Amino acid sequence: MKVLSGIQPTGRPHWGNYFGAIQQYIALQESQQAFYFIANLHALTTVRDANLLAQYTTDAALDLLAFGLDPNKAVLFVQSDVPEVSELCWLLLSGVPFGLLERCVAYKDKKAKGLPASAGLFTYPVLQAADILAFDSDTVPVGEDQVQHIEVCRDIASSWNAQFGEVFTLPAPKILEKTSRVPGTDGEKMSKSYGNTIELFDDAKTMRKKVMRIATDSRPMEDPKNPEGDHLFDLFSLFASQDQIADMRSTYERGHFGYGEVKKGLADVADAFFEEPRARRLELQSNPEPLKQILGDGAQKARAKAKETLRRAQESCGIPT
Ligand code: ADP
Ligand code: TRP
Repeated sequence: MKVLSGIQPTGRPHWGNYFGAIQQYIALQESQQAFYFIANLHALTTVRDANLLAQYTTDAALDLLAFGLDPNKAVLFVQSDVPEVSELCWLLLSGVPFGLLERCVAYKDKKAKGLPASAGLFTYPVLQAADILAFDSDTVPVGEDQVQHIEVCRDIASSWNAQFGEVFTLPAPKILEKTSRVPGTDGEKMSKSYGNTIELFDDAKTMRKKVMRIATDSRPMEDPKNPEGDHLFDLFSLFASQDQIADMRSTYERGHFGYGEVKKGLADVADAFFEEPRARRLELQSNPEPLKQILGDGAQKARAKAKETLRRAQESCGIPT
């Protein structure tokens, strides 16, 4: 199995990004050949501040390493360090039907809201397809909101293969069901665009404050409550052990508790969970050299692979190599 996924550096990552994506990447490095990259060219469609984009890109790499991505097991690189992907994107674009991209949600949503959309946003799924196809990836770990993009990638790859011969490997998404939709502080899906996030690397105090502000209902304390579908319980379950979850479940079903207690419990388990990654991140941040080295090595390995695929694609369609 060849695994690949990308992270857009569009802001500070939140709990949803970790449980919906990052956690899966890290787990897969143990058993699969894995490529992970920071999708800064994708982020350029939204982040239009040079310093901020550069900062978010470095931050995203630090975050992955802090959570245990091991550069000896997985290849970590920055998207723009592999120009072969952009070149492949152009080859693909030449044959992608306009209608296919018009149906893609990111563009469709923006248009429906009457917001201006760039050509970059419109063609975003094709760059994503190039990211995936360049590495002959067959497995793409992502949150469920990205499934459409993987389907578009499959469409693009199979129509290329039908036209020019078997050049590309068709990928499949890999979704982690249990945590495929982490709720935010308002109970809706946690997302930067909804302003309901809790960031991964907030300091302990800020994180606790955000936890204490999680919205809850106003039923009387003594009422028994159903933990199923309760966003506070769901968040607690992300960090807690099986025993802690079972205890919390009984508390809910018994009633006579305040949501404040649950929030405190959540802040405690989250704190314990983040202690080690926080320390590792501080250490990595204090000396930029190792990070530079890791990303340099990653880019070199990624380019070697992407070059090979680009050449195959060029030869198949009559572009001199
Ligand atoms: P946001 O919605 O905050 O802009 P992104 O779109 O940058 O987040 O998501 C990056 C990755 O994290 C994607 O793979 C996405 O599916 C996953 N992800 C984001 N939010 C959540 C969530 N609330 N629950 C599960 N996965 C999520
Ligand atoms: N579009 C993805 C997101 O917003 C990021 C991404 C870019 C990606 N290229 C990719 C994910 C290739 C998987 C494979 O989360």
